[in-house]
Amino acid sequence: MDLFRKKDIGALRSMAQKSGLTRNLSAFDLVFLGIGSVIGTGIFVLTGVGAALYAGPGISLSFVLASVACAFAGLAYAEYASMVPVAGSAYTYTYASLGEFVAFIVGWNLVLEYTVTCSTVASGWSGYVVGLLASGGIDLPIAFTKVPEEGGIINIPAIAITMFLCILLVRGTKETVMINRILVFVKLAVIAIFFVIAVPHVDPTNWDPFLPFGYQGIASGAAIVFFAYIGFDAVATSAEEAKNPSRDLPIGILGSLFVCAILYFFVALVLTGIVPYTDLNTPEPVAYALRAIGYPIGSAIVAVGAICGITTVLLVLLYGQARIFFALSRDGMIPAGICKIHKLYRTPYLVTIGGCILVAAIAGFAPIHLIAEMANIGTLSAFFLAGFGVLYLRITRPEIKRGFRCPAIYFVSPMAMLSCGYLMYNLPIHTWIRFVIWCVIGLIIYFGYSYKHSKIQSNEK
Ligand code: ALA
Repeated sequence: MDLFRKKDIGALRSMAQKSGLTRNLSAFDLVFLGIGSVIGTGIFVLTGVGAALYAGPGISLSFVLASVACAFAGLAYAEYASMVPVAGSAYTYTYASLGEFVAFIVGWNLVLEYTVTCSTVASGWSGYVVGLLASGGIDLPIAFTKVPEEGGIINIPAIAITMFLCILLVRGTKETVMINRILVFVKLAVIAIFFVIAVPHVDPTNWDPFLPFGYQGIASGAAIVFFAYIGFDAVATSAEEAKNPSRDLPIGILGSLFVCAILYFFVALVLTGIVPYTDLNTPEPVAYALRAIGYPIGSAIVAVGAICGITTVLLVLLYGQARIFFALSRDGMIPAGICKIHKLYRTPYLVTIGGCILVAAIAGFAPIHLIAEMANIGTLSAFFLAGFGVLYLRITRPEIKRGFRCPAIYFVSPMAMLSCGYLMYNLPIHTWIRFVIWCVIGLIIYFGYSYKHSKIQSNEK
């Protein structure tokens, strides 16, 4: 058995060149792309859950801690992406560096990341829609808007939005840079509205105690709000379309992370300053807090903006999920038949529909904090391996041309592994158990199916 058979980087690069992508994204576009795919359920929902259950008002510091891990991982990821700029993200990069077996594990965890992240985002969407309707006097029955653990039966709004976006994706609806820009403005505008209304109502007594769960609370909170940063890696995958990747990629990655980290820090600080953190374990904490201080209209505006923002994040992530499935099936890791392209719409419709059904099923029945934790462990494990892979390639294949070279790689790469590992360590034990079960299922699939069917035997080096 050869578990370390690799894809040839040269072949991948020429495949990417043939893709005919044009270099038309500026550093500014990349920052916007990052913000567009990042700000969603994390800030609008998990800030509340994180404050109430894990960190108290100290959740603002959790956002800072999580951003540091993301910055290290982001830099390493960018070098990886600029070296192997093809679809499939960390999975493909790992196939070229650490070989098929580790690549499969990464791909399998990316499937986990994208699937449960989408489910979490769909749950967040549902929370805001149900809350908005309720504040307009339309109360949807709890049985059909909450999952069993929260006293309901099924979360129908979360299922409905997922399947609606599924139809758009199958029909080939593309997010244009323009639409993305508009929606990023909408998101930023509602956050600005929140600040304008909320800041004068901050009551410092709500920050006392600031760390009700101690310093450990900051780390546990960071392990959950890390979710709010998921998506910035999308910037790294646009290496082929950046005008000047070696300059623009780090600006795009660090710039969007910086903007988000600042916004998250202050939203968390203000949110926990206007209502007691114990009240924030609700599906729509930002809108709830504005209602609680007497601004139902402001709350409705923020809710509408949050719904728009969360919708775009979900659309982009569902698209990403289909792409990971597509890459795995194109390589023969999962049955090749499912990456069939639709004759009329030219989209991988089977993987798209299958993936969306999976997302909808999870969002329909599982509580948001559990699925967010699963999303985080899947992502952090992929970042951890990316941190390792990039250093490994620097040492073993120094001659390969890199569009972007990670500065201080001997510091950044170990720090990426350390900080991602630290956040993983801080996730609850039940998340680890589920994660191990997920990996074992992956191993069974790899040894039972993928190894034998891998396309690499026939057409790759
Ligand atoms: N970072 C994205 C969000 O918070 C996934 O919705």
